[in-house]
Amino acid sequence: MNVPYALLVGMRDPSLRLKNGSGQDDSVVCRGCASLPAMADRTSTKRKRAGKTPVSRRSSPLEPPKSPLLAKDARNGAPITSGKHFLSDKVGHFTESVIREMTRQAMLHGAVNLAQGFPDFPAPAEVKQAAQRAVAADVNQYAITWGAKDLRNAIARQMGVWQGITVDPEKEITVCCGSTEAMISTLLAVCNAGDEVVIFEPFYENYGPDSVLSGAKPKFVKLRPPKDDGGEWTFDEKELRRAFDKHTKAIILNTPNNPTGKVFTRRELELIRDLCVEFDVLAITDEIYEHILYEGTEHISIVSLEGMRERTVTINGMSKTYSVTGWRVGWAVAPEKITNAIRKVHDFLTVGAPAPLQEAGAAALSLPAEYYANLAKGYRVRRDHLMPALTAAGFQCFRPRGAYYVMTDISAFGYKDDVAFAKYLVQEIGVACVPGSSFYRDPRDGAKQVRFAFCKKPETLDEAARRLAKLRVGATA
Ligand SMILES: Cc1ncc(COP(=O)(O)O)c(C=O)c1O
Repeated sequence: MNVPYALLVGMRDPSLRLKNGSGQDDSVVCRGCASLPAMADRTSTKRKRAGKTPVSRRSSPLEPPKSPLLAKDARNGAPITSGKHFLSDKVGHFTESVIREMTRQAMLHGAVNLAQGFPDFPAPAEVKQAAQRAVAADVNQYAITWGAKDLRNAIARQMGVWQGITVDPEKEITVCCGSTEAMISTLLAVCNAGDEVVIFEPFYENYGPDSVLSGAKPKFVKLRPPKDDGGEWTFDEKELRRAFDKHTKAIILNTPNNPTGKVFTRRELELIRDLCVEFDVLAITDEIYEHILYEGTEHISIVSLEGMRERTVTINGMSKTYSVTGWRVGWAVAPEKITNAIRKVHDFLTVGAPAPLQEAGAAALSLPAEYYANLAKGYRVRRDHLMPALTAAGFQCFRPRGAYYVMTDISAFGYKDDVAFAKYLVQEIGVACVPGSSFYRDPRDGAKQVRFAFCKKPETLDEAARRLAKLRVGATA
């Protein structure tokens, strides 16, 4: 198995600074670059003055580079390469997604895929029909870059219903290609090289590479697992405070949380709010599991706390709430000034999210309250289906309060680490999980953990349980 688990080399390098070819900070180079035609004009003036275009340096992003691949060897016509490094330094600082790699492994070995968080059951019929109607009605061209009006109106309306927040759909919402794009567009829009971003770990693996790509340095604060079955994942308030300083630009929150299932309490969010205000920090909050809650837990959006409206970017999407992870529709809700910056990045990254699926998004957000209650109930049944099977097989489960994953401790199996165990599980037992190390900066912190997703049909969970029953506690590899 390809082992890309040693994650985010750059995060361990405090001196990480993203530079352009001339050694300047990217932030300096990019300032004022929003208008490409203006830049082209400046270039042509310079060129006129110089009399000719310099050969060794590109003078405009509009001008294609002189590719060394165009040069051919006179003897055999083979392309001559210069030996130059063609890869960005940034990509050397993180690996491919471990979660997505585990899906490929599951397919390779015919394993039950409890690794990646996508449902294997149908999306709601009303939502699919709305998409079909939109395609048939020829909503097949680019939507407005920052989102179809109907969808933005529906998001604003539901932010009022669910969070009690008034949002201007014209000025404060950007619809993106999934919340994944909303997060990276936000970080690119707000971070300069050298800014620091606070992240709780274990963390959803995208946040690390997102920070690196945006030039920010991630600072991690530990979430510690519960000591007993009824307990909660907690963090140390002093450790959190120590992570904040004058370089802190933002904190990334994810509640309900992937991978832990933690749902941040009002008290915890108030503490985070106080630090954000004291250090003048932005909260970027990923609330994609907002409606998947258990045992009467309450989802609180940090934007709804006093003092946070002007310093919060709330990210959400259709993937998890409406079981359409392949549609790629998500959004960022932020104050106008920040929204303007996010919209610029989003425009040049993707132009826009799929137009007919945005129309279906407006229909989805109009589903009755009963839909959300049934969604949570369905996931509780699935959680309570998988957890006993895991416990019986020898895993120690950390009971999730929200989202659709269960983090487990694998100490009882006696494996060298999570990667060796996950490899054995997918190849020999036929069940794919995600090695815990992929959720931590230091792989050793997750060496005794693996994560299972339970967003699956009962028969899928039954088959996984049947296979897991073959596991032997105390086996060593
Ligand atoms: C916390 C979290 N955020 C974002 C995503 C991706 O969301 P989207 O499909 O909207 O890009 C996931 C997917 O697993 C997730 O767990």
